[in-house]
Parts: sequence; C-alpha cells; structure tokens
Amino acid sequence: MKLLVTGGAGYIGSVVTRMLLDAGHEVVVLDDLRTGHRAALAPDATWVDAPIHDAAQVLTPGAGFDGVLHFAALIAAGESMVKPELYWHNNTVGSLALIDAVRAARVPRMVFSSTAAVYGNPAELPIPETAVKAPTNTYGATKLAVDMALTSEAIGHDLAAVSLRYFNVAGAYLSGDVAIGERHDPESHLIPIALDVAAGRREKLQLFGDDYPTVDGTCVRDYIHVEDLARAHLLALTAAVPSRHRIYNLGNGTGFTNRQVVDVVREVTGRPVPVEMAPRREGDPAELVASSALAREELGWVPEKPTLHDMVGDAWAFYRTHILERS
Ligand SMILES: NC(=O)c1ccc[n+]([C@@H]2O[C@H](COP(=O)([O-])OP(=O)(O)OC[C@H]3O[C@@H](n4cnc5c(N)ncnc54)[C@H](O)[C@@H]3O)[C@@H](O)[C@H]2O)c1
Repeated sequence: MKLLVTGGAGYIGSVVTRMLLDAGHEVVVLDDLRTGHRAALAPDATWVDAPIHDAAQVLTPGAGFDGVLHFAALIAAGESMVKPELYWHNNTVGSLALIDAVRAARVPRMVFSSTAAVYGNPAELPIPETAVKAPTNTYGATKLAVDMALTSEAIGHDLAAVSLRYFNVAGAYLSGDVAIGERHDPESHLIPIALDVAAGRREKLQLFGDDYPTVDGTCVRDYIHVEDLARAHLLALTAAVPSRHRIYNLGNGTGFTNRQVVDVVREVTGRPVPVEMAPRREGDPAELVASSALAREELGWVPEKPTLHDMVGDAWAFYRTHILERS
C-alpha cells in the first residue's frame, strides 16, 4: 500500500513507519518537526516538511494513497489546560483539514491515534470502548472530537476508519543499529523521566499522590510496548471496512503503580532513583486500565512484550546508546 504517516518524526509514528516499510509498504511522512526529531525519520520513507493543515498539498487526487495513519498531535495534557487554543487548533482543526484532504483525494482508509484520555475518570475497570467518554483535560477533548468526526466521515462518505485508543506507551524499537525511543520535550511520561533520574540527569523523581485507593497509594496505569502498539496499526489497516468506524483500546489489561514502575527502573538500571512525593494532580484518576478484549478478538492482536521489564529494558537500551552516550 502507499501510505501517508502524519507525525512520522515522533516517537510512535517513526516506529510504525519502520514497521510499515519492513512489511513492504511505501511510506510518505508528513511532519513539520514541531515536536519531532529529524533523526527519527526513516531514511527509506519520503519526508514532507509541512503541517497537517496543508495535507491537501500531499494528498492530491492523483497521488494514489491507499491510506493515512494519523499520529501528528500535541500530547501534553498539562499544557493543554493552559494553552487550550493551541491544542484545538493543532489536534482538532488540523485533523479536520486532514480528513477534508482524505475525502477530496478519495483515500479509502484512515487509522487515528486516539487516547485513553477520552475516558477521563472511569466508572468501570478495565475500561471498555463503550465506557462513558468524559475527558478531564483539553488534550483528551481534542482527540474525542476527532473520533466523533471520523464516525461521521465513515457514515457520510464511506471512509474505512479505525481509532486506536492507546494507554501509556513505553519501550523502544530496537533493530540492528536502529533504536527509536521516547524523547518528548518537555517529557511528561514516567519511564523516561525515571531513566533521567537513574542516569543522574535529574536530581529526583516527583510522584503525584500516595493516598490513592491502590495497593501502595500511587496511581495505577496500563503500559503498552511501542512495538506491540505498532503491530496493532498494521492489523488495523487491513481490518478497516468502508463506511465503518471501529474503535479499539490498546493496553495490556494489567495496571502497574507508579512505585512499581520506579522499582523496575531501579532493578533494570542498577542505579538509585530518589523519589519525592508531591500532592495529587487535579484530574488524575486513581486507576486507568484498558480492556483490549475487542482488539484481541477482532484484530487478532496479541501483545508480545507485555511486562514492565520488557518495556523498561528496551527504553533503557535506547536511553544508554542514544541519549547518554551521545550527550
Ligand atoms: N505517547 C503516548 O503514551 C501516547 C498515548 C496515547 C496517545 N498518543 C497519541 O499518539 C500520537 C503520537 O504520540 P507520540 O508520543 O509519538 O508524540 P510525539 O510528540 O513524539 O510525536 C508527534 C509528532 O507529530 C508532529 N506534529 C505535531 N503536530 C503537527 C502538525 N500540526 N503538523 C505536522 N506535524 C505535527 C510532531 O512534530 C511530532 O513529530 C499522538 O497523536 C498522541 O496523542 C500517545
């Protein structure tokens, strides 16, 4: 297939691009590097340096694209609360422009990176796709709006659409000399921050809240390895059906507390990780764990790297070779 990957210079998009190329697809990456990294771009993909708002310049009717995988977004939930206009303009207005271009160019299928943040504070655990959607931050709301636009597009214009709602993505893609890992700036994700502390590049790790009703009082989150996530995208591309919008949660169905994550980081790196407890953050649910039963059943998706040791081990391998040794 000839595929457009938006956000292909980012963490997840650059891993999926490589796995699509490995599977024999032709890939064009659309990314203006606003938060991505030139070094993460796959050399065998064609790169177009433009915002998704200008997607129609690439998705022309004669270009022959068979599908779009849409990763490009701003992803920091905290920032989305202080700069909401930035998030609405980038994540929602940009995605609507992309969907317009998909329609005009008659691209048959689209896979979208949605998020667990659409559910907000869940009333049921593990969270099924049918759970109430009540985002507690602007980031989640901008993503939910795109999910809803895709449902309309599938009904009104026959698009074969799939939204994949990721829980916490972790780990790295390691293949020969290539290693792609997480490098957000500012970093808001627990594992790369804990690795920074283990490496001595940050003094301590702040954990927000130790009085939640969980085994050790810290929040519980569901982690998914970036390679397992990437595999789900390849499955979704072939499973997409015209006029239908399918939505799948992607997680492991097992939660880990923040403290358990820190313990594994200490074990894997063999280094101390000093922790400082801070008050709860507004809007942080105690527990977010996915039910991925639908993805397993309908896509035949089976995670191959489900343990924290898999994820932290690969993240540390990337961190040592690509961050520590190059700094
Ligand atoms: N990382 C996670 O744990 C996680 C969890 C749930 C959902 N997601 C979703 O997955 C997707 C990818 O996340 P990531 O962690 O790889 O983020 P990332 O920041 O590493 O990558 C995002 C990429 O999109 C590009 N981009 C952003 N806005 C753009 C625009 N308007 N035009 C062109 N390029 C633009 C950036 O330059 C960057 O390369 C996002 O849509 C995010 O919401 C991520």
